[in-house]
Amino acid sequence: MVSIRAARAGDLPAIQEFTADTFEWGDYVPDEFATWLTEPEVLVIVATDPDDRAVAMARVALLSPREAWLSAARVHPEFRRQGIGSMINDHGVDWAREAGAAVMRLATEVINTPAQRQVEKIGYRAVAQFALARRRYEQAGPGTNGGKRPPADERLDLAPSSEAEPAYLVWASGDYPGASHGLYACEGWAFRQLQAADLTRSARRRQLWSSPSAWAVIEPDEDRLWLPLFLTTPEDARRGTRALTDLGREHNAATVTAMIPRIEWLEEALKAEHFEIQHPNTVYEKAL
Ligand SMILES: CC(C)(COP(=O)(O)OP(=O)(O)OC[C@H]1O[C@@H](n2cnc3c(N)ncnc32)[C@H](O)[C@@H]1OP(=O)(O)O)[C@@H](O)C(=O)NCCC(=O)NCCS
Repeated sequence: MVSIRAARAGDLPAIQEFTADTFEWGDYVPDEFATWLTEPEVLVIVATDPDDRAVAMARVALLSPREAWLSAARVHPEFRRQGIGSMINDHGVDWAREAGAAVMRLATEVINTPAQRQVEKIGYRAVAQFALARRRYEQAGPGTNGGKRPPADERLDLAPSSEAEPAYLVWASGDYPGASHGLYACEGWAFRQLQAADLTRSARRRQLWSSPSAWAVIEPDEDRLWLPLFLTTPEDARRGTRALTDLGREHNAATVTAMIPRIEWLEEALKAEHFEIQHPNTVYEKAL
C-alpha cells in the first residue's frame, strides 16, 4: 500500500535512488527537484511506502490560469504496474482542477510505450507532436558546415513590437495551429496555448526576430540559441531557415535548437540546412 502526499526536501535521497537509471543517460529530476519545491503554482507529488519513503513522483504546474502541465512522472521500477503512476496523475488532476485549470497536458517520447499506454488508460488523448530541430556548428573552416559561404539573401533582425501581430497571423493562418493544437513551448518541454500577447512580450524582451520569410522567438542561453518558436511558410521556408543558420553563425553559437511542431515542409527545409530532427514527443491532453 502506498500513500500520496506533497513532496518534501527530505525525499530527495529516495528519489535519487529510484531515478538513477530512468533513461539510458540517467535523469534530470534529482537536479531540478529542490528548485521545484520552491516554485509558485507548482505541486510536486510523491507516493510513499509504509515507512514514508518515496517510491514514485510527478510534478504539476499551472502554465496559465486554465492550463496545467504534468511532468517528471517516475515510479520506482519495483513498484510499476500497480496503479501508482495513475494514482499520482489523478491526484495532480484533482489539484489542477481545484486551482481552476480546465485542461491537463503532458508529453511523452513517441517511443515511450509504457507511458503512452498508461496515460491513454486514464483518459488522455494525443493532440500534437513536437520535436527538436538542432543544428551544430563545427569549427569554422573550408569544407565544414561552419565554413564560409555566401550569406542568405535575407537576415533575421530584432523585431519591434509591431511585428508581433503579423507573426501571430502567420502562425494562426498556416499549418501551425493544426499540427501544434495551438500550443507552443512556453518553458522547455512544457506547452500551453500561444496568445498574440506572448509574441508582444517576446518583442518587448528583445527576443522576437524577423526576416521577410520568418519570425523566431530566440532565447540566447550561453553558447546556444534556443527557439521556442520558429515561424515561416511553405513558400518561404528555405529562405527563412537559411537566415536562421546565418544568425547562429553570426552569434558564434555552438548549436541552434528550435522546438517545432511536426510539419513535413518545415522539417524538410530545416534538414536542408543541416538541422537534425530529434526527440519526437507526443503531447497528450485531458479536459478537467
Ligand atoms: C510510465 C510510468 C510512470 C507508469 O507508471 P506505473 O505506476 O507503472 O503505471 P500504472 O501501474 O498506473 O499503469 C496503468 C496502466 O498503464 C499501462 N502500462 C503501464 N506500464 C506499461 C508497460 N510497461 N507496458 C504496457 N502498458 C503499460 C497498462 O495498461 C497499465 O494497466 P495494467 O497494469 O492494469 O495493465 C512508469 O513506467 C515509469 O516510471 N517509467 C519510467 C519513467 C517514464 O517513462 N516516465 C514518463 C515520462 S513522460
